[in-house]
Amino acid sequence: MRILGIETTCDETATAVVELGPEGRGLILSNEVLSQIEDHAAYGGVVPEIAARAHVDVMDQLVRRALQTAGVTLAELDGIAAAAGPGLIGGVMVGLTTAKALALVAGKPFLAVNHLEAHALSPRLTDGIAFPYLLLLASGGHTQLLVVKGVGDYLRLGTTIDDAIGEAFDKVAKMLGLPYPGGPQVERMARSGNPSRFTLPRPLLGRKEPDFSLSGLKTAVRIEAEKIAPLSEDDVCDLCASFQAAIVDTVIDRTRMAFARLSEMPCPVTALVIAGGVAANQALRSGLERLAAYNALPLIAPPPALCTDNGAMIAWAGLERLSLGLTDGLDFAPRARWPLTVKTDHEERAHV
Ligand code: KG4
Ligand code: ZN
Repeated sequence: MRILGIETTCDETATAVVELGPEGRGLILSNEVLSQIEDHAAYGGVVPEIAARAHVDVMDQLVRRALQTAGVTLAELDGIAAAAGPGLIGGVMVGLTTAKALALVAGKPFLAVNHLEAHALSPRLTDGIAFPYLLLLASGGHTQLLVVKGVGDYLRLGTTIDDAIGEAFDKVAKMLGLPYPGGPQVERMARSGNPSRFTLPRPLLGRKEPDFSLSGLKTAVRIEAEKIAPLSEDDVCDLCASFQAAIVDTVIDRTRMAFARLSEMPCPVTALVIAGGVAANQALRSGLERLAAYNALPLIAPPPALCTDNGAMIAWAGLERLSLGLTDGLDFAPRARWPLTVKTDHEERAHV
């Protein structure tokens, strides 16, 4: 089974061809990404109208490149998948309409993929792991601790009550004068900083519910920065290191609480997984690796290029859905908002 995947929900235009490989993993035949970061840099964030137009400009070349690199024709595909949301609606329409048109002319099944589901299933593409697994999904717009029990079957243990983790990185970066997207910049500066120079809060530490709250931490960084302004490069490095250390401690504590929840449930997980753009962060990976080892589980983190938005994860989610016969009609509308259909811990218990 071989699928073309198209991703246009934010500021990356991405296409890929993925086929079902050995041991249930995916084989990535091509994975093309064109980032629009430079188009948006001057604005300090993604401008939806610019994003949508930029996707239109490169869409046809990127589809052609994905097929050429993979060495396949449209006729040799088994299905065509696009992220149908959640995301910036203008961009989503570009990818979705392209995929529908290709599916129509080639007479192939069409698959409307939830971008979050694609992140959630990406460790099965890279590592072929079995359900269920505990997933920390951490991107610019989402922060959730989920048990992934199957395709379309998610149990949510915790979420953020304010900022997403990636959003907190981006806002702290902006406040410190670092370019967008902030996550990789903060991580880079943190490498030469002192993580214990500033005393920052670890929000919700020790709370039983594995939820997140990050806006207070972000404000605490601002207060510390204002106290010592103007900032030298060393100050920025120390603030980044102190902020990142607080995030890592918080994530580990919250994930520890999720494990405590799991121990009360009849649901042994096969792995701890981190996915979404923030999963590219090495400090976070090392912290979670220790926590996973403590729980005698592997930590599965897709390689950085498959953590941030990409077409391979869309193709793979399409492949998983097609294997289950879950195809979509060409009238499938783009969705700016599209939460994963999840059960909460509470609902799951009520159901049992
Ligand atoms: O999944 P993604 O590519 O797009 C969304 O769906 O949001 O995630 C992008 C987010 C941004 O907030 C970015 O700052 C963050 O992931 N990010 C990182 C790192 N690389 C990307 N955050 C922390 N450390 C990184 N190395
Ligand atoms: Zn994403």
